[in-house]
Amino acid sequence: MARSCLTIILAAGQGTRMKSALPKVLHPVAGLPMAAHVAATARAAGSDAVAVVYGHGGEAVRDALSGKLDGASWHEQAEQLGTAHAVLAAREAISKGYDDILVMFGDTPLVRPDVMREARAKLADGAAVVVVGFRPDNPFGYGRLIERGGELVAIREERDATDQERSISYCNGGIMAFNGNMAPQLLDAIGNDNTKGEYYMTDAVEIARARGLKVVAIEAPVEDVVGVNTRGDLAAVEAIWQRRTREKMLAEGVTMTAPDTVFFHHDTAVQADASIEPNVVFGPGVTVKAGALIRAFSHLEGATVGEGAEVGPFARLRPGAELSSNAKVGNFCEVKKAEIGEGAKVNHLTYIGDAVIGAGANIGAGTITCNYDGYDKHLTEIGAGAFIGSNSALVAPVKIGDNAYVSSGSVVTEAVPDDAVAFARARQVNKDGLAPRLRARFKAAKEAKKAKKD
Ligand code: UD1
Ligand code: CA
Repeated sequence: MARSCLTIILAAGQGTRMKSALPKVLHPVAGLPMAAHVAATARAAGSDAVAVVYGHGGEAVRDALSGKLDGASWHEQAEQLGTAHAVLAAREAISKGYDDILVMFGDTPLVRPDVMREARAKLADGAAVVVVGFRPDNPFGYGRLIERGGELVAIREERDATDQERSISYCNGGIMAFNGNMAPQLLDAIGNDNTKGEYYMTDAVEIARARGLKVVAIEAPVEDVVGVNTRGDLAAVEAIWQRRTREKMLAEGVTMTAPDTVFFHHDTAVQADASIEPNVVFGPGVTVKAGALIRAFSHLEGATVGEGAEVGPFARLRPGAELSSNAKVGNFCEVKKAEIGEGAKVNHLTYIGDAVIGAGANIGAGTITCNYDGYDKHLTEIGAGAFIGSNSALVAPVKIGDNAYVSSGSVVTEAVPDDAVAFARARQVNKDGLAPRLRARFKAAKEAKKAKKD
């Protein structure tokens, strides 16, 4: 039978070095709060429940995450007396009798599910305590894994370590896993007899050994356990996340000529055989379908780009932009809350907002949907096969019929029937031979002005 699993996310840290009004674990990586990345990893590793330990005054954490961590339980740790003390703040969740208990840090968002699966496999093999170790370039500040005869016997924090212990390069990544039956008794046995006077969760290693229980260390890649303490760390973590995601996209069949310049959101979905040119930025909620091409310097959020559709260069798709297959949105166009029908073209210098555009319509350069009257937004409907001449203003609410024409430079305020041609501009008048007379007049005026000055 599958083992049940609880993940406790420690999120009580102040994060003072972030110099931020925002609690540290709410700082986003790829647009998602760090603590939510951790919860997603826990779920992916089969965790049935998540318990979040937040600090005094950390209601902001709870409020900000509650929509994103459905079903999580919340536990306040009013005073930060150490990692073991923090875990015990979630005693109510622990006492529900889960087989596996994982402890993760809310400021360590890059742990991959495989690491947690491996830790759980060790628990299933009979370990009472599992420690996730790593080998950083510089071990300063980390707890060291003390091994004897190839077995983990203790974890020593930097400030409590001897010089010899400090020379050990194998460090504690912070994440630990406990057998759920033993966790309460092990954690309760932890004291605070150390330099910092804190209750160290890592002391569970020695206590478990003394009771003849099995303790195991597994090694994780350095990248998985890198934590965030400063804005610099946050940027470094973001860079790792972006690199991993680009690699994943490439492996899944997405073409990118300069992947290092493409920035994804945590929820960006790109199908195989889509192509992304350099310098493209994805905000939240974007889906790009097979065969679509996102050209250079485009910014997309809340948008769907249909099969074979083309966007950019220099295009902006805002929330609610829905491009059907083979539609085109070209350079210096902005599209918001609008359906662009199959094969329709919005190619140059255009704003389309609150609109429904039929299949095969052609929207000329400089077309503007005047969707806002200062109070409300109104809909523009453009029929299939319609042709909107360049530099037209469509004053919503307004409807252009199927296969209708709107002549260039029109300001359309009334419905245009199917197959009609709308002229909504002043009629052209030509005055034969007027240009030379006009020039003569302007020239004389300029000379008169000059003579008066001299
Ligand atoms: C901890 C480990 C250390 C490991 C390092 C990896 C312990 C005793 N030490 O040290 O071996 O090398 O992580 O980064 O576990 N927290 C609370 N409440 C508390 C104390 C901490 O919620 O009372 C949270 C913090 O917000 C943080 C995490 O637990 O997310 C780790 O605490 P921190 O004080 O940063 O531990 P380190 O000294 O870094
Ligand atoms: Ca830390």
